Order: sequence, then structure tokens, then C-alpha cells
Amino acid sequence: MRIVLLNGSPKTGKNNSQYFLDTLEKIIKPGPVHDSEAEHSIVHIRLGREKDILNDPDAIKSLTGCETLVIGFPLYVDGIPSHLLRNLEKMEDLFKRMPHKPHVYGIVNNGFYEGVQCTLALQMLGHWCMHCQLNWYGGLGIGSGEMLGNLDSVPPGHGPKKSFGTGMNTLAGAIISGTALEPIFITPEFPRFLYSFMGNLGWKVTARQNKVSLRKQY
Ligand SMILES: Cc1cc2nc3c(=O)[nH]c(=O)nc-3n(C[C@H](O)[C@H](O)[C@H](O)COP(=O)(O)O)c2cc1C
Repeated sequence: MRIVLLNGSPKTGKNNSQYFLDTLEKIIKPGPVHDSEAEHSIVHIRLGREKDILNDPDAIKSLTGCETLVIGFPLYVDGIPSHLLRNLEKMEDLFKRMPHKPHVYGIVNNGFYEGVQCTLALQMLGHWCMHCQLNWYGGLGIGSGEMLGNLDSVPPGHGPKKSFGTGMNTLAGAIISGTALEPIFITPEFPRFLYSFMGNLGWKVTARQNKVSLRKQY
């Protein structure tokens, strides 16, 4: 199966969307979870902040030849980041002209605790698919993305990443079998109040590192 993993995070460096797409790739490749003989070619495309997808012939070739497209991105104001949205609009004609329509899955991650915050963004992706005559096959909404994306020492399926591991396995299974899935919303196995406490400390540390005052500046 030819699979494209499209990263729609506008961050230029390390980002959580990439961690989630890489996790999916590791599961899809034949191994302990999916002991499949099938060969899957997996191509990564990263949009970053500047990229215009129509100016990248390699990306266009991969997109028009793929059977499965997985779009991973962060939730921005309950929706799709503007740079990704603009690129999705640019790709509409391309996909409308494609004789073989890929299955499209989404992996949305957000900063708040609950994954259910990603409901609307997944629906927006579904509407975009309908508009481009693509097959919308559902996806994951991952809460506490900043924590799950940075807990390198904990493997998926363990500790706070227990539901995350299960959700990723379900998504990988759906992709391999070519089936649609109802959106799965993931919230970590971690107390909400501690997550909120850590988040409140985190932004202060980042502000100090960037020489920004914690007081209001009007
Ligand atoms: C401009 C902006 C808007 C955001 N809006 C939301 C939001 O509405 N809800 C939420 O839970 N997180 C929101 N976040 C947090 C990101 O979704 C979160 O940090 C995510 O893990 C970033 O993923 P990435 O590293 O793949 O870019 C926002 C972040 C930014 C910078």
C-alpha cells in the first residue's frame, strides 16, 4: 500500500504531529503488532510554515499516487491551522481529477487535556474530503498533545500513553484493512489537575526563557 503521512504543523523544529505520525509508521510497518507480509511504502511530507504544496513536484507525485493519506496537525482555535487550510484548498483540484481516490484519515492533537476538543477539526477535514470527492475514513483526536508528544521515555500503550497506544493500534489496523473508523478521542491516563498545574508552570518557564514579563503589559 502506498501511504502518505502529511504533517500540517506550522512549527519548523520538533513538533508533536511528527511524533504521532512516526508512531503510526512504526506500527504499520510489519512487526509485533501487525504481523503482515504486505509491503507498505510510506512517504512523509512536511508543510512547515512556508511550503506551497503545488511547488513541490515530488510531493504532488506522492499525493496523486497514494492509496491512503494521513493528515496530522495541531488544533488551532478549535480548527485547522491556516497554513494547512490554504494548502488543502490548493490541493482540491488535484484530488478532484484523481481517478483513484485515496482513503483519508486524520490525526489531530491539541494542547488542552481532553481529545474531544478535536471533534470540530476532524469534522472540517471530513467536509474537505467530501468537497474533493475523497473518501473520509475518520481518525484520532489526541488530547494533551504537548505531554504525549514529549514523553519520550514512555512507550505507547503504557502509563499515561495507554489509551494512546490502543487508539494508534486501532487506526493502524483500519489503515491496513482499508476500513473507516468512528473518531477516537484520546485523553491520557494522568490526573487532569496535575496536567493543568504543569501547563501553568510550563508557560511561565517559556516566557522567562524568551524574556517576556509575566505581568500584563499595556
Ligand atoms: C495559535 C494556536 C492556537 C491553538 N489553539 C488551540 C485550541 O483551540 N485548543 C487546544 O486544545 N490547543 C490549542 N493550541 C495548542 C496546540 O494544539 C498544541 O500545542 C499542539 O500539541 C501543537 O502540536 P504540534 O507540535 O504538532 O504543532 C493552539 C496553539 C497555537 C499556537
